[in-house]
Amino acid sequence: MKLLIVGSGGREHALAWKLAQSPSVTEILLAPGNGGTAGLSKTRNVAVSAEDISALLSLAQSEAIELTIVGPEAPLVDGIVDRFQAAGLRCFGPTASAARLEGSKAFAKDFMRRHHIPTASYASFQQLQPALDYLRSQSMPVVIKASGLAAGKGVIIAATPTEAEQAVRDMLEHQQFGSAGQQVVIEEFLTGEEASFIVLAAGTDYLAFPSSQDHKRAFDDDRGPNTGGMGAYSPAPVLNDELQALVESRIIQATLRGLADDGLPFTGFLYAGLMIDEQGQPRVLEYNCRMGDPETQPLMMRLNSDLVELIEAALDNRLAGVTADWDPRPALGVVLAAEGYPGAYAKHLPLADLPAASDDLVAFHAGTTVNEAGQLVSSGGRILCVTALGDDFDTARQRAYAALQQISANNCFYRTDIGHRAINR
Ligand code: AMP
Ligand code: GLY
Repeated sequence: MKLLIVGSGGREHALAWKLAQSPSVTEILLAPGNGGTAGLSKTRNVAVSAEDISALLSLAQSEAIELTIVGPEAPLVDGIVDRFQAAGLRCFGPTASAARLEGSKAFAKDFMRRHHIPTASYASFQQLQPALDYLRSQSMPVVIKASGLAAGKGVIIAATPTEAEQAVRDMLEHQQFGSAGQQVVIEEFLTGEEASFIVLAAGTDYLAFPSSQDHKRAFDDDRGPNTGGMGAYSPAPVLNDELQALVESRIIQATLRGLADDGLPFTGFLYAGLMIDEQGQPRVLEYNCRMGDPETQPLMMRLNSDLVELIEAALDNRLAGVTADWDPRPALGVVLAAEGYPGAYAKHLPLADLPAASDDLVAFHAGTTVNEAGQLVSSGGRILCVTALGDDFDTARQRAYAALQQISANNCFYRTDIGHRAINR
């Protein structure tokens, strides 16, 4: 079978690495892929943007692609699945109307309210004055979110009324987030521990993946600005069996049932970003309509089953009763980022001495490319995610950090405390 993976990040490298292991897969095209996916067996990078749906469709048709798997949210929200389906092509992911769960935070919040899915209390606004009036009734800190897609940057946790007003004005008045900020969600600030829960869904059937946890802040001790994610591990020990059962019934099943009842049946990866409070009650912080990055990297290292078979079962609506085999060992990944990320950062940084992939360690590439001189250089803020399996979290962590320290790269940084919550537990 010939596949197309849409996207260029660490998530897509990990998906390609896993899918290439399937005996039924003959070739995987990546649009556009990265320096890591250029060098895998069975893979080929094609210079087509992940956001150019027409070009992706032409590529899939001219290359006789049998199955397309979409990594990032933007093409899903823009309707890639609808376009491919209309052309008679198999494409794994939600339709544009179901992907609104990620594409519009106001839509997602209204959906959760309607279906009694636990989440922070909120109100959404398109007009400045009512938003400012509402803010006066809120206690601090308060969370201000651009409703639309903002590449993880549209969430402001305001500690004071002045900061909150500024955030609302930046979005609604100064249009700092463009169309994504034309509507804002003002939300109650939740405390607790975050975890990611991802399922492979087809209508109301789903296959739960093991839990995972991401480190969103740029620096150690969860300081600094929010990023796309500086490291991740699986499982997330905070989600014990009892809590996982609660998350499945109150959140995952309620979401899939609610979507189906609303006429928006969801096929694809559904990601619930959760906050677990001090009483062990889970609430939804956000939905994503795709796999997480970097959560995918440790998850794919733990998956023993054939991912193509699982995706095909979902697409053919025969997911009920399907199980997957997971490595019981934990996996942990640490992101190497360019100095300055998530703000402005240098590109074209030469990279050398990357660890060779083995059964228990893979350096998944994200922002890398091979330049004209054939040299591997950085091309993005998040460069690599060195991911390791270990008999316990500490072993996985030591293995990942030992490999990371061998990499030659200047003007880069990484967090030194990935996995601290799991290890301290
Ligand atoms: P989101 O993109 O909505 O997941 O928000 C990004 C990050 O902001 C989350 O991973 C949390 O760390 C934080 N966050 C979002 N909403 C809230 C909230 N209501 N209370 C506390 N932290 C939040
Ligand atoms: N790691 C968070 C995300 O993929 O949205």
